[in-house]
Amino acid sequence: MFSNIAGRYDVLNHLLSANVDKRWRRLVARRVKDKLASGGGSVLDVACGTGDLSQTLFEVSGARVVGTDFCRPMLKIAAGKVHSDIRLIESDALRLPFSDRSFDVVTIAFGLRNLSSVEEGLSELRRVLKPGGWVAVLEFSKPSSRILRSIFGVYFTRLLPLMGGIISGSKSAYTYLPASVGRFPDQLELATLMERAGFGQVTYENLTGGIAALHMGSKAE
Ligand SMILES: C[S@@+](CC[C@H](N)C(=O)[O-])C[C@H]1O[C@@H](n2cnc3c(N)ncnc32)[C@H](O)[C@@H]1O
Repeated sequence: MFSNIAGRYDVLNHLLSANVDKRWRRLVARRVKDKLASGGGSVLDVACGTGDLSQTLFEVSGARVVGTDFCRPMLKIAAGKVHSDIRLIESDALRLPFSDRSFDVVTIAFGLRNLSSVEEGLSELRRVLKPGGWVAVLEFSKPSSRILRSIFGVYFTRLLPLMGGIISGSKSAYTYLPASVGRFPDQLELATLMERAGFGQVTYENLTGGIAALHMGSKAE
Protein backbone atom coordinates (compact mmCIF):
# COMPACT_ATOMS: atom_id res chain seq x y z
CA MET A 1 0.00 0.00 0.00
CA PHE A 2 2.76 2.46 0.92
CA SER A 3 4.68 1.57 -2.25
CA ASN A 4 1.65 2.57 -4.30
CA ILE A 5 1.28 6.00 -2.73
CA ALA A 6 4.95 6.83 -2.07
CA GLY A 7 5.23 9.33 -4.96
CA ARG A 8 2.28 11.40 -3.74
CA TYR A 9 2.65 10.82 0.00
CA ASP A 10 4.34 14.11 0.92
CA VAL A 11 2.10 16.31 -1.22
CA LEU A 12 -0.99 14.66 0.22
CA ASN A 13 0.24 14.90 3.81
CA HIS A 14 0.81 18.62 3.53
CA LEU A 15 -2.33 19.28 1.50
CA LEU A 16 -4.76 17.17 3.54
CA SER A 17 -3.44 18.53 6.84
CA ALA A 18 -3.02 22.14 5.59
CA ASN A 19 0.66 21.81 6.60
CA VAL A 20 -0.23 21.08 10.23
CA ASP A 21 1.77 17.82 9.94
CA LYS A 22 4.96 19.92 9.70
CA ARG A 23 4.15 21.66 12.99
CA TRP A 24 3.52 18.30 14.68
CA ARG A 25 6.89 16.91 13.53
CA ARG A 26 8.72 20.04 14.70
CA LEU A 27 7.13 19.68 18.11
CA VAL A 28 8.28 16.04 18.31
CA ALA A 29 11.80 17.13 17.38
CA ARG A 30 11.80 19.82 20.09
CA ARG A 31 10.62 17.34 22.73
CA VAL A 32 13.28 14.86 21.60
CA LYS A 33 15.94 17.56 21.82
CA ASP A 34 14.90 18.21 25.42
CA LYS A 35 15.57 14.55 26.25
CA LEU A 36 19.03 14.43 24.68
CA ALA A 37 22.27 15.44 26.34
CA SER A 38 23.50 18.79 25.01
CA GLY A 39 26.24 17.13 22.96
CA GLY A 40 23.71 15.36 20.73
CA GLY A 41 23.16 11.61 20.97
CA SER A 42 21.52 9.06 18.73
CA VAL A 43 17.95 8.89 17.46
CA LEU A 44 16.31 6.05 15.57
CA ASP A 45 13.25 7.11 13.54
CA VAL A 46 11.23 3.94 12.94
CA ALA A 47 8.76 3.73 10.01
CA CYS A 48 10.43 6.92 8.76
CA GLY A 49 8.65 6.80 5.40
CA THR A 50 9.80 9.66 3.17
CA GLY A 51 12.00 11.01 5.95
CA ASP A 52 10.27 14.22 7.03
CA LEU A 53 10.60 13.50 10.76
CA SER A 54 14.16 12.16 10.37
CA GLN A 55 15.18 15.40 8.67
CA THR A 56 13.40 17.59 11.23
CA LEU A 57 15.03 15.63 14.08
CA PHE A 58 18.41 16.15 12.44
CA GLU A 59 17.88 19.90 12.03
CA VAL A 60 16.33 20.60 15.43
CA SER A 61 18.08 18.18 17.79
CA GLY A 62 21.55 18.01 16.29
CA ALA A 63 21.55 14.26 17.02
CA ARG A 64 22.93 11.44 14.90
CA VAL A 65 19.78 10.22 13.13
CA VAL A 66 19.05 6.82 11.59
CA GLY A 67 15.78 6.32 9.70
CA THR A 68 14.32 2.91 9.02
CA ASP A 69 11.29 1.66 7.08
CA PHE A 70 10.35 -1.57 5.31
CA CYS A 71 9.00 0.13 2.18
CA ARG A 72 11.75 0.69 -0.38
CA PRO A 73 9.88 3.27 -2.54
CA MET A 74 9.28 5.42 0.57
CA LEU A 75 12.97 5.13 1.52
CA LYS A 76 14.04 6.04 -2.03
CA ILE A 77 12.13 9.31 -1.73
CA ALA A 78 13.66 9.87 1.70
CA ALA A 79 17.13 9.33 0.27
CA GLY A 80 16.56 12.11 -2.26
CA LYS A 81 15.44 14.56 0.43
CA VAL A 82 17.19 14.11 3.75
CA HIS A 83 20.65 15.30 4.81
CA SER A 84 23.40 12.95 3.67
CA ASP A 85 24.48 12.35 7.29
CA ILE A 86 21.15 10.64 8.03
CA ARG A 87 21.51 6.88 7.56
CA LEU A 88 18.52 5.13 5.99
CA ILE A 89 18.07 1.41 6.54
CA GLU A 90 15.42 -0.90 5.12
CA SER A 91 13.94 -3.02 7.90
CA ASP A 92 10.80 -4.26 9.57
CA ALA A 93 9.86 -2.34 12.70
CA LEU A 94 9.09 -5.63 14.41
CA ARG A 95 12.61 -6.99 13.79
CA LEU A 96 14.96 -4.04 13.93
CA PRO A 97 18.51 -4.86 12.81
CA PHE A 98 20.13 -3.20 15.84
CA SER A 99 21.46 -4.63 19.06
CA ASP A 100 19.77 -4.07 22.38
CA ARG A 101 20.42 -0.69 24.02
CA SER A 102 21.64 1.12 20.88
CA PHE A 103 19.84 4.50 20.82
CA ASP A 104 19.17 7.42 23.17
CA VAL A 105 15.76 8.13 21.63
CA VAL A 106 13.48 6.13 19.36
CA THR A 107 10.67 7.88 17.47
CA ILE A 108 7.77 6.53 15.45
CA ALA A 109 5.38 8.88 13.67
CA PHE A 110 2.14 7.57 12.18
CA GLY A 111 3.77 4.14 12.08
CA LEU A 112 2.75 2.24 15.21
CA ARG A 113 -0.86 2.03 14.01
CA ASN A 114 0.27 0.15 10.91
CA LEU A 115 2.16 -2.63 12.66
CA SER A 116 0.53 -6.05 12.92
CA SER A 117 0.96 -5.86 16.70
CA VAL A 118 1.18 -2.58 18.62
CA GLU A 119 2.41 -4.47 21.71
CA GLU A 120 5.23 -6.22 19.83
CA GLY A 121 6.14 -2.95 18.14
CA LEU A 122 6.45 -1.14 21.48
CA SER A 123 8.52 -3.95 22.91
CA GLU A 124 10.89 -3.89 19.91
CA LEU A 125 11.27 -0.08 20.20
CA ARG A 126 12.10 -0.52 23.89
CA ARG A 127 14.65 -3.24 23.17
CA VAL A 128 16.85 -0.95 21.05
CA LEU A 129 16.70 1.94 23.55
CA LYS A 130 19.56 2.57 25.95
CA PRO A 131 18.66 2.54 29.65
CA GLY A 132 17.51 6.06 30.49
CA GLY A 133 16.42 6.55 26.86
CA TRP A 134 13.08 7.81 25.60
CA VAL A 135 10.50 6.73 23.07
CA ALA A 136 8.30 9.27 21.27
CA VAL A 137 5.13 8.07 19.54
CA LEU A 138 3.25 10.49 17.27
CA GLU A 139 -0.11 9.16 16.15
CA PHE A 140 -3.61 10.20 15.24
CA SER A 141 -5.78 10.07 18.33
CA LYS A 142 -9.17 11.05 19.68
CA PRO A 143 -10.14 14.75 19.64
CA SER A 144 -11.12 15.77 23.14
CA SER A 145 -14.13 17.95 22.29
CA ARG A 146 -17.29 16.38 20.94
CA ILE A 147 -17.73 19.19 18.39
CA LEU A 148 -14.21 18.77 17.00
CA ARG A 149 -14.73 14.98 16.96
CA SER A 150 -17.80 15.30 14.74
CA ILE A 151 -16.35 17.94 12.40
CA PHE A 152 -13.06 16.07 12.08
CA GLY A 153 -14.95 12.75 11.76
CA VAL A 154 -16.79 13.98 8.67
CA TYR A 155 -13.58 15.34 7.15
CA PHE A 156 -11.52 12.25 7.97
CA THR A 157 -14.01 9.58 6.93
CA ARG A 158 -15.60 11.28 3.90
CA LEU A 159 -13.62 14.17 2.39
CA LEU A 160 -10.10 12.84 3.00
CA PRO A 161 -10.67 9.39 1.40
CA LEU A 162 -12.22 11.12 -1.62
CA MET A 163 -9.40 13.64 -2.12
CA GLY A 164 -6.67 11.17 -1.12
CA GLY A 165 -8.06 8.54 -3.49
CA ILE A 166 -8.23 10.92 -6.46
CA ILE A 167 -4.79 12.49 -5.96
CA SER A 168 -2.87 9.34 -4.97
CA GLY A 169 -4.70 7.01 -7.34
CA SER A 170 -5.16 4.57 -4.45
CA LYS A 171 -8.65 4.73 -2.99
CA SER A 172 -7.92 1.91 -0.56
CA ALA A 173 -4.97 3.67 1.11
CA TYR A 174 -7.12 6.63 2.07
CA THR A 175 -10.04 4.52 3.30
CA TYR A 176 -7.53 2.43 5.26
CA LEU A 177 -6.28 5.60 7.01
CA PRO A 178 -9.50 6.51 8.92
CA ALA A 179 -10.30 2.81 9.46
CA SER A 180 -6.91 2.13 11.03
CA VAL A 181 -7.15 5.25 13.20
CA GLY A 182 -10.61 4.12 14.34
CA ARG A 183 -9.15 0.80 15.50
CA PHE A 184 -6.11 2.38 17.19
CA PRO A 185 -6.10 2.93 20.97
CA ASP A 186 -7.00 6.41 22.20
CA GLN A 187 -4.67 8.53 24.35
CA LEU A 188 -5.24 6.72 27.67
CA GLU A 189 -5.29 3.25 26.14
CA LEU A 190 -2.00 3.86 24.33
CA ALA A 191 -0.43 5.19 27.53
CA THR A 192 -1.51 1.97 29.28
CA LEU A 193 -0.07 -0.19 26.49
CA MET A 194 3.22 1.69 26.78
CA GLU A 195 3.33 1.10 30.52
CA ARG A 196 2.58 -2.60 29.97
CA ALA A 197 5.45 -2.72 27.45
CA GLY A 198 7.76 -1.58 30.26
CA PHE A 199 7.98 2.18 29.68
CA GLY A 200 8.01 4.49 32.70
CA GLN A 201 7.14 8.19 33.13
CA VAL A 202 4.58 7.85 30.33
CA THR A 203 2.95 11.14 29.40
CA TYR A 204 1.06 12.42 26.40
CA GLU A 205 0.15 15.77 24.95
CA ASN A 206 -2.72 16.42 22.61
CA LEU A 207 -1.91 18.14 19.34
CA THR A 208 -4.54 20.21 17.54
CA GLY A 209 -7.23 19.36 20.08
CA GLY A 210 -6.31 15.67 20.21
CA ILE A 211 -6.52 14.98 16.46
CA ALA A 212 -3.02 13.67 17.08
CA ALA A 213 -1.14 12.95 20.29
CA LEU A 214 2.50 12.70 21.23
CA HIS A 215 3.21 10.00 23.81
CA MET A 216 6.58 9.76 25.50
CA GLY A 217 7.96 7.16 27.86
CA SER A 218 11.32 6.22 29.31
CA LYS A 219 13.24 2.99 29.65
CA ALA A 220 14.49 2.63 33.19
CA GLU A 221 16.86 -0.32 32.77
C1 LIG B 1 1.91 6.87 7.46
S1 LIG B 1 3.56 6.50 7.03
C2 LIG B 1 4.48 7.51 8.17
C3 LIG B 1 5.81 7.91 7.62
C4 LIG B 1 6.57 8.95 8.42
N1 LIG B 1 6.94 8.48 9.72
C5 LIG B 1 5.81 10.24 8.52
O1 LIG B 1 5.69 10.78 9.62
O2 LIG B 1 5.35 10.75 7.48
C6 LIG B 1 3.75 4.91 7.72
C7 LIG B 1 5.07 4.25 7.38
O3 LIG B 1 5.17 3.05 8.15
C8 LIG B 1 5.87 2.11 7.38
N2 LIG B 1 5.61 0.78 7.96
C9 LIG B 1 4.44 0.18 8.16
N3 LIG B 1 4.61 -1.03 8.71
C10 LIG B 1 5.96 -1.16 8.89
C11 LIG B 1 6.77 -2.19 9.41
N4 LIG B 1 6.25 -3.33 9.88
N5 LIG B 1 8.10 -2.00 9.45
C12 LIG B 1 8.66 -0.85 8.96
N6 LIG B 1 7.93 0.14 8.44
C13 LIG B 1 6.60 -0.01 8.40
C14 LIG B 1 5.30 2.31 5.98
O4 LIG B 1 6.14 1.77 5.00
C15 LIG B 1 5.20 3.82 5.92
O5 LIG B 1 6.35 4.39 5.36
